[in-house]
Amino acid sequence: MKRMAVLTSGGDCSGMNAAIRAVVRAAMAQGVEVLGIQRGYRGLIDRQYEIMQNRSVSNILQRGGTTLQSARCKEMLTAAGQEIAVSNLKGLGVEGLIVIGGDGSLRGARVLNSRGIPTIGIPASIDNDIPGTDMSLGVDTALNNILYAVDCLKDTASSHDRTFVVETMGRGSGYLALAAMVASGAEWALVPEEPYDLEAICDNLRQRFREGRSNSIIMVAEGAASAQEIAAQIKDRIGFETRVMVLGHYQRGGSPSSFDRLLAARFGVAAVEALLAGESGKVVCLSCAEIQLLPFDRVLDVGSRPIDTMMLGLGQALN
Ligand code: F6P
Repeated sequence: MKRMAVLTSGGDCSGMNAAIRAVVRAAMAQGVEVLGIQRGYRGLIDRQYEIMQNRSVSNILQRGGTTLQSARCKEMLTAAGQEIAVSNLKGLGVEGLIVIGGDGSLRGARVLNSRGIPTIGIPASIDNDIPGTDMSLGVDTALNNILYAVDCLKDTASSHDRTFVVETMGRGSGYLALAAMVASGAEWALVPEEPYDLEAICDNLRQRFREGRSNSIIMVAEGAASAQEIAAQIKDRIGFETRVMVLGHYQRGGSPSSFDRLLAARFGVAAVEALLAGESGKVVCLSCAEIQLLPFDRVLDVGSRPIDTMMLGLGQALN
C-alpha cells in the first residue's frame, strides 16, 4: 500500500488529534503516505485534503478537538454523495481509509468499504454508545470534565444547602450521567435506559433536608429528560428551589486524559496495522483491555449498547 487517508467525522471529542497523530506516524514508519481529509465526509466530497508530514502532527497530541476538523455531512447519506466520495478517493490513489468518529460516521465508513475502499473505523464519541467497544475515544476526558464541574458545584451547593440538577450529553446513552454519579458521589442519575421515579426522589430530598444534609446533586442524561424540566417538577412537588447546570459542549473539549491518549495510540496503530495486513470493513474496539477487530455489522447492527450493569450496580450500592 502506498497511500491511505484519515478523517474525523461527526461530533468532535478529545483524543481525535492523538489518534490522527498515531495513524500518520504509524503509516509513515511503514513508508505509506497519508492524506488528511478535512471536515470529515464533507472534505471527501469536496476534495479538501492535505498530504500529512511527520511535522503536520507535531504538538497536537495534547490538544482537544480535531485539527482535521469535523462536520456532519447530509450528502454522504445519499447514493450520489457516496459515489463522489468513492470516485475522489480512487482518483487520489487512496488504497485504504481510516474513519475516526461515532455511530453515524462508522455507518458512512461501512458504505465506503462496501463500495470498494478498504476502510477501518476508530470509535470516537463522548456518548460511549458504540456496541462492541468497552470505551470509545473521548469518553474518559468528557467524564473528567463533568467531574471537575460537579466537584465545583458541590462546593457552592454545600455552602447554600442547595440541590443542583446537572445535565450531561450522551444522546440516547446514559453512560456519562451514570458514571459521573458514581465517580462524583452525586445522589441520583436519571438515564434513558432505566425508568426513574421522581416522586421517590422528591421524598428522599425532603428526608435529606430533614437530616440536615447540605447538598444534593441529580445527574440527568439529556436522553432521559431536560434538567430544566426536572428542576421545575421538583419545585412543583416539594417547593424547593433547585439550580440547573447544562454542561453542553464543554464536555467535548479540553486536553485528552492519559487514558484517551493511550487509547488513541492503540486504536491508531491497530487501524494502520489492520489495513496493511489486508484487513478491511472492521472497527478497532477495546474489549477487556485488549484491542479487537470487529466487523462493521457486529458493531452497527446489534441494536443499542446496553446500559453498563456494573456501573448501575455501583450507583445503586452507593446511593
Ligand atoms: O454525539 C456527541 C454529541 O455531543 C451528543 O452527546 C449530543 O447530543 C450531540 O453530539 C450534540 O450535537 P451538536 O454538536 O451537533 O450540537
